[in-house]
Amino acid sequence: MNKISAAHQQTGLTPEQQEQIAAAAQILRSGGTVAFPTETVYGLGADAANPSAIQKIYRIKQRPVDHPLIVHIGAISGLHHWAQAIPESAWKLAQHFWPGPLTLILPRSAHIPDCVTGGQDTVGLRMPAHPIALALLRALGEEKALAAPSANRFGRISPTVAAHVRQELGMEVDMILDGGMCQVGLESTIISFHDEIPQILRPGGISPAAIEAVLQSPVLLAHHRPQTIRASGTLPAHYAPVTPLRLYPTAELWRYASALAEQGLRVLVITWSDSDHLRPALNRLIEQSAMPSDPATYGQQLYATLRQADQSGFDYLLVETPPDHLDWLAITDRLQRASYH
Ligand code: TXA
Ligand code: MG
Repeated sequence: MNKISAAHQQTGLTPEQQEQIAAAAQILRSGGTVAFPTETVYGLGADAANPSAIQKIYRIKQRPVDHPLIVHIGAISGLHHWAQAIPESAWKLAQHFWPGPLTLILPRSAHIPDCVTGGQDTVGLRMPAHPIALALLRALGEEKALAAPSANRFGRISPTVAAHVRQELGMEVDMILDGGMCQVGLESTIISFHDEIPQILRPGGISPAAIEAVLQSPVLLAHHRPQTIRASGTLPAHYAPVTPLRLYPTAELWRYASALAEQGLRVLVITWSDSDHLRPALNRLIEQSAMPSDPATYGQQLYATLRQADQSGFDYLLVETPPDHLDWLAITDRLQRASYH
């Protein structure tokens, strides 16, 4: 068996994919940018040790430079290289959930460029669970890592298929690796070990309950209560479609849709429950997108649905408030940020 087909058996990647990954690694080594698939969303990657390559990411994304990037690594052992004073609980989570949708915020190593960490003394690290991302990291070699935010313009919706990246950033990125549709569809859970009790800064693919079960101790949730978010008014708009998006409980949803339609506005109503008994007649002004009622599939489809809606000329997106349950936490978080105005 030749080298390439042996590798195919090992990784499940086709020879074409392996060639593209080798080309991508070469681009990254010479300071270029490559968009690549992960299990959460597509990332826009550059060599984490190359400040001028990192600058390109900020430029392409139009992202403020004080917003730190997540560093993607190909093996748990890479933690030693990129972080220091790593608490036992962080090791436990890495061993249990990596590769997977969990980002650990840890004290940074001295050699990490400031532009990666936004000048902070911590660094976000994650080992992604996607065969293409892992093969790319392996091709780059040990002690190499990819600084990569989501591959979208700052504040907009993260891409969950390669075509989204092409549409939004296509001209500016040196290469886009196509890995199909992202399985999780929402960004990773971010957990900080800055204080004694670990704190979830962003809910995501790994639930707080799953983390607590591994640590056998409680974790804190930053801003997990909707009321707190609205009252404080400090949360910036993020993960947002261009079309105004509003969240309404099931009972009010269709009433608002009718009221907007009466003003001649075109509305897309995005539901998860069976609210047909409340639904007015659908017509040119009121359309419905019925989403799955289980959070995993809903989460996988949410961003693609919002992107599609954005391109369909609606005046408003009315979204049914998700169930008040921890399994829906990441979805509720993204929708609340998308509706912030
Ligand atoms: O699933 C994901 O996490 C995706 C894929 C590509 O891995 N990446 C992603 O990156 O969502 P980005 O840049 O769009 O969001 C990263 C978030 C930002 O809100 C950033 O502020 C936070 O992580 N972050 C990164 N490093 C941090 C640090 N040292 N301290 C606090 N927050 C940090
Ligand atoms: Mg992002």
